[in-house]
Amino acid sequence: MIHHTMARTLQLVILCLLCPSVLAFPTGEAAQRAFASDTPRKDARVLILGGGMAGITAARTLHDQGIDEFIIVEARHELGGRMMSQHLRRTWAAVHCRGRRELGARHAKTWRCCESGMDVWTEHTVWGHTTKLTESASVAMYDETGPVDFSDVFNQSVEDFDRLIASAGERVPKGLVDASARTGYSLTGARPHTHHEMASEYFQNNNSTFTGFSEDNLLSVDQRGFKTILHSEAEAFLSPEQLRFNSTVSRIRYSANGVEVALDDGRELTADYAICTFSLGVLQHSSVAFEPQLPMWKREAIHSMTMGVYTKLFLQFPHKFWFDTEAALYADRERGRYPIWQSLDHPKFLPGSGILFGTVTGAFSRRIESLPRRQVLDEILSVLASMFPNITIPEPLDFHFHPWSADPLFRGSYANWPPSFLPEHHANLRADLDGKVWFAGEYTSRLYFGYLQGAYFEGRDIAVEVAECIRGGGCLGLEHVEQVKNANPY
Ligand SMILES: Cc1cc2nc3c(=O)[nH]c(=O)nc-3n(C[C@H](O)[C@H](O)[C@H](O)COP(=O)(O)OP(=O)(O)OC[C@H]3O[C@@H](n4cnc5c(N)ncnc54)[C@H](O)[C@@H]3O)c2cc1C
Ligand SMILES: *[C@@H]1O[C@H](CO)[C@@H](O)[C@H](O)[C@H]1NC(C)=O
Ligand SMILES: *[C@@H]1O[C@H](CO)[C@@H](O)[C@H](O)[C@H]1NC(C)=O
Ligand SMILES: *[C@@H]1O[C@H](CO)[C@@H](O)[C@H](O)[C@H]1NC(C)=O
Ligand SMILES: *[C@@H]1O[C@H](CO)[C@@H](O)[C@H](O)[C@H]1NC(C)=O
Ligand SMILES: *[C@@H]1O[C@H](CO)[C@@H](O)[C@H](O)[C@H]1NC(C)=O
Repeated sequence: MIHHTMARTLQLVILCLLCPSVLAFPTGEAAQRAFASDTPRKDARVLILGGGMAGITAARTLHDQGIDEFIIVEARHELGGRMMSQHLRRTWAAVHCRGRRELGARHAKTWRCCESGMDVWTEHTVWGHTTKLTESASVAMYDETGPVDFSDVFNQSVEDFDRLIASAGERVPKGLVDASARTGYSLTGARPHTHHEMASEYFQNNNSTFTGFSEDNLLSVDQRGFKTILHSEAEAFLSPEQLRFNSTVSRIRYSANGVEVALDDGRELTADYAICTFSLGVLQHSSVAFEPQLPMWKREAIHSMTMGVYTKLFLQFPHKFWFDTEAALYADRERGRYPIWQSLDHPKFLPGSGILFGTVTGAFSRRIESLPRRQVLDEILSVLASMFPNITIPEPLDFHFHPWSADPLFRGSYANWPPSFLPEHHANLRADLDGKVWFAGEYTSRLYFGYLQGAYFEGRDIAVEVAECIRGGGCLGLEHVEQVKNANPY
């Protein structure tokens, strides 16, 4: 199984060169779609469905364009979406509290830690730290026998990874078929077998998340949670009438007259346009019904893209007993079993916090989501016991992970572009329905899918399209491809 960020990296290399623009021009047919708003008064001009990064950015963009007749409809009790924080228990006050403004309840002697770390946001981020791990010396290595130095193998994995990326870059100009990262690794001669090799490869895939956006990788350690960025942004321009919390959308009906959105408690909201920002996972699970049913080209695009799962495991201990490096790699005999550990109790992050966080992905994430919490914790404690054979591991004060794939509001962590997903699929994933229902989110971003910056740019760009519809009294819409074709018959 190939790690998702790996496939994504490959894809990005390929895509940047392959498709100059999938944002095509409106067709004559689309131009004829008449705008009809001779219907009774609606609740809003635009319903923004979902209050994560894309939804808030869309709202901000409409506001900046002088359009304030919109409503953000959000299932949860707060804005932020996947920028979700969690309180961790703690026996003394936060050491590095840099926040000034208090937004909402904040209990004394508790603090939050970032659930969704991030790579960008130089504009707003005043609390970032560079986290890019620049050499293997900053990674402590372990296996089931305890500390062990396999940096030779690790260094080889760095080279293998560089070769993989270079070969992906070479395939594109030649017009060769898209390949998975596993195929690419094999072709370039890297075939990991031992647990040290597999863990090293896993680490490279994770470390190398390519953004093409910023050189720095910043980790938010704001005690109020990273979502504070969005909350402050929202406070500056949103009024309470523009927000509907605890409002789960169950159906979106669209016609030439506009959209009707039904909530699961029976309420209905009407508008001329909707911008749907629900995650790809939500769309794949058909948790929201569309009427009429989504066209085949849209459904094919939705199901051809992949929703990956990435889980952060937060553990808080009474004191730090682990490595002094930023990160550690644990090579289990089973690939993907609690392989990456990062210390937040580090001078660069939250010294004195006693927080250690681990990473699991994909099938392993799904596996632990289905287990009793205590069993997951026991597994982790036994892994730590093998990593530190001479230390009595204390019982953690707190343990938390979010079940991203099981959560009906997300159904995964972020989208990943798989092989066989074509630029035409991407255009279809992003295309609107009859100029009425628009789609924006990290997963619709051609360059930054998976990332907050993807959600940000898509929220902005789609809102600009909708604002043009409103000002022009009608919509041309984005072009879609009725049938995506690339196969030759045998
Ligand atoms: C564990 C994890 C780590 C991550 N790390 C990073 C990182 O380091 N850097 C980075 O750039 N990105 C990271 N991401 C990805 C980033 O969080 C997302 O790309 C981004 O937050 C997506 O924003 P969005 O607005 O597209 O979607 P969302 O945040 O999912 O917003 C959609 C909103 O719709 C709501 N909703 C869903 N269904 C319904 C419904 N039926 N009715 C009403 N409301 C509904 C949801 O509650 C949500 O608020 C991470 C994600 C996860 C899960
Ligand atoms: C949403 O529900 C939560 C409880 O789940 C409640 O505390 C909150 O006040 C509600 N918010 C609104 C705006 O109804
Ligand atoms: C992590 O990735 C960066 C490039 O993004 C690279 O320079 C660095 O060497 C990698 N770190 C390790 C430990 O492999
Ligand atoms: C691995 O690479 C690092 C530099 O990135 C170097 O310091 C170290 O000596 C190398 N280790 C081995 C065993 O080659
Ligand atoms: C793994 O990737 C995640 C998400 O991009 C990042 O937060 C984390 O710091 C990475 N870990 C390492 C060791 O590079
Ligand atoms: C653990 O203790 C044993 C016996 O004292 C010693 O041989 C071994 O090196 C120690 N291991 C570590 C990782 O410190």
